[in-house]
Amino acid sequence: MTYDLRHLLGRAVEHAATYRQSLTENSGKPQVGYYDMRAALAAPLPDTGSAPEAVLEELVRVAEPGLMPMAGPRFFGFVIGASHPAGVAADWMVSAWGQNAGYHTPTPAAAAMEEIAEGWLVDILDLPQGSSVGFVTGATVANAVGLSAARTKVLLDAGWDVDADGLFGAPEVTVLVGDDAHSSVFSALQMIGFGYRRVTRIATDGQGRMRPDSLAAEIGKASGPKIVIAQAGQINTGAYDPFGEIVEIAHAHQAWVHVDGAFGLWARATPELKHLTESIEGADSWVTDGHKWLQVPYDSGFAIVRDREVHQRAMTQWGSYLPSINQGDRVPSAFVPELSRRARGMPVWAMLKTLGRSGVAELVDRHCGFAKQFAARLGAEPDIRIMNEVTINQVIVNFGEGDAAVRKAATEAVIARVQQDGVCFVGGAAWKGDWVMRISVSSGETTADDVDMSADAIISAWRTVRANR
Ligand SMILES: Cc1ncc(COP(=O)(O)O)c(C=O)c1O
Repeated sequence: MTYDLRHLLGRAVEHAATYRQSLTENSGKPQVGYYDMRAALAAPLPDTGSAPEAVLEELVRVAEPGLMPMAGPRFFGFVIGASHPAGVAADWMVSAWGQNAGYHTPTPAAAAMEEIAEGWLVDILDLPQGSSVGFVTGATVANAVGLSAARTKVLLDAGWDVDADGLFGAPEVTVLVGDDAHSSVFSALQMIGFGYRRVTRIATDGQGRMRPDSLAAEIGKASGPKIVIAQAGQINTGAYDPFGEIVEIAHAHQAWVHVDGAFGLWARATPELKHLTESIEGADSWVTDGHKWLQVPYDSGFAIVRDREVHQRAMTQWGSYLPSINQGDRVPSAFVPELSRRARGMPVWAMLKTLGRSGVAELVDRHCGFAKQFAARLGAEPDIRIMNEVTINQVIVNFGEGDAAVRKAATEAVIARVQQDGVCFVGGAAWKGDWVMRISVSSGETTADDVDMSADAIISAWRTVRANR
């Protein structure tokens, strides 16, 4: 099929720029919901192909009404980042260059850039020099990679080679995890054969922080290999575990300490907030996302391991057709589960170049300031309660009065109304017996005016809900 390459790619650029520019207006919801989108797209597999330009036009025409404005300034659901245009442009180049970035010698630019980005990440996050970074799709997979490295090491120390011999017959590993850990940690445990139920859950405080006294009590009961999973940035409250005490207790019991810091690890990049992560560098593996606070487009997560030998041991695959490796070479696929993959290091390199150390710090500080602005605006309204200590970018809010069930109904009604109004997007979650509205500030596009406009929309939704009760 013939087509005009420049015209095709130029049209994609045009559509992308037009869409991005529309996001300040349309920031809270898709115009068409999932079921209608599915109906609109339902069609049999075409027998014959179509011109690429026509397919692109159809793709944009059909998809755009069903896009959630996640890259916009007033999307506060999940912790989503917003894919900075510089990262998007770099990501386009990654697709255009079409490098299979699994190996180093066939793709020198991709491999070298990822190696530089590895060093920059370890530097900006102030983790132990020489730590290795696996460039994966996100924190869920990064958790699986970090915990695989943990599994390798604690079992090797117990005389068992889990990478070669698997878990059947292996010494039992005790996994200790905070009661308010993110769901992805349990998913990672499931993937690597530990099971999400077969863990010792450690009690947490009102903000979701692991309690060191409970950890000490539980770890004291365990014998054999142990892994402790801590958290930097609880998904609802943004709270940080007390890493100094956790690392000390865990290491006194020869346990590996893994930290899920999918968004919260970025507090290390700003002098204002770094204290929240004090002693985190004493852990053995860490996880964070590029597609959250670094504003890299999806998919971008990092599995960081202090002991790069162990990291590689847990991930490396071998094949006679793959290029040979010299001493000191860094093979991108040796730190991740996949062989073939896109050049994930390139947009990370581009975003770290675009923002620099000071730009990342300013971004994180700005978002945390916006979270405080939200809390101040909403907390001043009668019967709106801020349910967390707002230390970073997370605010959780509960509406109404009376018992938890009544407040849950009110909170759900406010969330539904806000989503319907479409000025901004917020979601909900269960938190310590209550239902809360979650507000996560993590888009580089958000301004103080967006926060005010969104707070107005939330307050107005609450007043309507209250008036209609
Ligand atoms: C604390 C925490 N861990 C893990 C994850 C999962 O990250 P991902 O969606 O990139 O896999 C998230 C996502 O929000 C998170 O907040």
